[in-house]
Amino acid sequence: MRSHYCGQMTTEFLDQEVKLAGWVHRRRDHGGVIFIDLRDREGIVQVVVAPEQKEAFSKAESIRSEFVVLVKGKVKRRPAGTVNPNLRTGEIEVEASALTILNRSEPLPFPIDDEFHEVGEEIRLKYRYLDIRRPEMLERLKTRANISRYLRKYLDENGFIDVETPCLTRATPEGARDYLVPSRTKPGSFFALPQSPQQFKQLLMMAGVDRYYQIVRCFRDEDLRADRQPEFTQLDIETSFLVEHEIQALMETMIRGMFAELLHVTLPDPFPRITYAEAMNRYGSDKPDLRIPLELVEVGDLMKEVEFNVFAEPAKDPHGRVAALCVPGGAVISRKEIDDYTNYISVFGARGLAYIKVNGEGKEGLQSPILKFLPDAVVDGILERTNAKVGDIIFFGADKASVVNEALGALRLKVGHDRGLVEADWRILWVVDFPMFEKGEGRLSACHHPFTSPKAETVEELMKDPHNMLARAYDMVLNGSEIGGGSVRINSPEMQKAVFNLLNINDQEAEEKFGHLLTAMRLGCPPHGGIAFGLDRLVMLITGAASIRDVIAFPKTQTASCPLMDAPAPVEPEQLIELGIRVAKTKE
Ligand code: AMO
Ligand code: AMP
Repeated sequence: MRSHYCGQMTTEFLDQEVKLAGWVHRRRDHGGVIFIDLRDREGIVQVVVAPEQKEAFSKAESIRSEFVVLVKGKVKRRPAGTVNPNLRTGEIEVEASALTILNRSEPLPFPIDDEFHEVGEEIRLKYRYLDIRRPEMLERLKTRANISRYLRKYLDENGFIDVETPCLTRATPEGARDYLVPSRTKPGSFFALPQSPQQFKQLLMMAGVDRYYQIVRCFRDEDLRADRQPEFTQLDIETSFLVEHEIQALMETMIRGMFAELLHVTLPDPFPRITYAEAMNRYGSDKPDLRIPLELVEVGDLMKEVEFNVFAEPAKDPHGRVAALCVPGGAVISRKEIDDYTNYISVFGARGLAYIKVNGEGKEGLQSPILKFLPDAVVDGILERTNAKVGDIIFFGADKASVVNEALGALRLKVGHDRGLVEADWRILWVVDFPMFEKGEGRLSACHHPFTSPKAETVEELMKDPHNMLARAYDMVLNGSEIGGGSVRINSPEMQKAVFNLLNINDQEAEEKFGHLLTAMRLGCPPHGGIAFGLDRLVMLITGAASIRDVIAFPKTQTASCPLMDAPAPVEPEQLIELGIRVAKTKE
């Protein structure tokens, strides 16, 4: 039907006959002449319909926004003074000789232009096909495709084989709830949708595939946030016979290459690495945003003897922490703002937010509700260690170390953003040496997943002090977002069982749930390891989108539903009978 895209039309096509098809972005009547902004995937072009073109003109009079039309015409230079420098096609217009209406449109629920900000997200998702007509959305989808293409190309060139793994499978623990699918052929039994292809990719190493990748959908029924979706896409990777620094080098080269090619950004070579322990100490987070030049400073040793129990107790407690966060120029932060920050961090369990404002030189220059509790030597120590200058504020957190880290870590980000301290830059790093286990109510859980190798050669070594064992795990962190995580895996059944045992999975349960993996480990299992990148997150960061939903064509809402298809939805009673399922009535 058409010869070119609207958005392609430039002076290169002057005086050529073209046929263009697209949506009527806007129609304007200008004293006898009708202007149509015609839009397609590649952009907008101005079409002029003169009254002399009788047939085309009468059709143009009847068209409305978002009609789909076909235009035949000649590319002409726009008259002087009417050039639009903001538009790629702004120097030309198309003089229509014929116009066909291919389809009509009723008035839209919202306009396809920048005013969409007024539109609620629920409506945008319900009419997602309209939302995606917006150039900004289309651009993001194109960028996403470019990113996938680059990653695939790199992996193909480096000997990785793209292998598909099943969606209907058994639970693979990654820390979230499973999405279950009932089986008709085995009533009462359920498939789980994969939280990741973790076990399959390990089995592929045992199968001799050696280097595997897949761009794969993963399903996790967890609490949703701006950077989380219940179904999301991983770039999933596994390799054999490589140790962590070799895997990391391959992955770094891939990400560096992608940034160079798609964004013309040079990332450091090699990426900086910090240990989990250091990340927690300095940033209160295992995914530190290094664009914010604020750091937590240890002051517990100064506080052990002070007459302020709020500080002295955690200072003496081996699981406690007292830390300070100095904000340059922060002395202007008002009492009300400090109250707001105190409230903000209370969700992490913080019971207060002590502070010292450095309004001027000397002790008289300090303003603080806790000064009365602190001897001069302690105050001097704090000022020295935090390097506080006149005009700064120092915040304090004192509690269990985990509470202080979460609270001051979150405060660091919030204050950094509020005070415009975030550098416009790409800051990428590896976080390494994660702990093997997390301690929840008396039980251990896997920090990464139960297949991750401890930094121990033997079961004996692991059992000496499992609580403090480190894992051969690593995360790639970009601007404060975890974009990828992986590890070297356990490859002996004895070690795997020992780790299962520590996770409260006894041998019988281990055989029942993971017998296939344990058996495979007994039948020739190469050393192996890998990583998975959150593709949606990567695209979100690269496109600067505010939400992960903006880089997914058809995402779920915060309540894990799809307003477009109205899913999830009830099913026919016959379907349930077939599956042997009866639904319990809810109060509602
Ligand atoms: P992990 O659980 O760290 O590792 O996931 C890998 C990456 O996937 C992204 N991600 C998500 N993105 C959007 N929505 C979600 N709900 C979501 N959950 C995770 C993150 C994360 O870094 N099997 C292991 C990988 C391995 O060990 O090789 C795994 O799944 O960017
Ligand atoms: P109070 O004596 O409870 O009024 O507290 C004095 C100051 O210490 C106030 O500014 C509180 O916000 C702060 N504060 C109280 N508990 C903590 C805590 N756990 N960590 C940091 N500051 C705290």
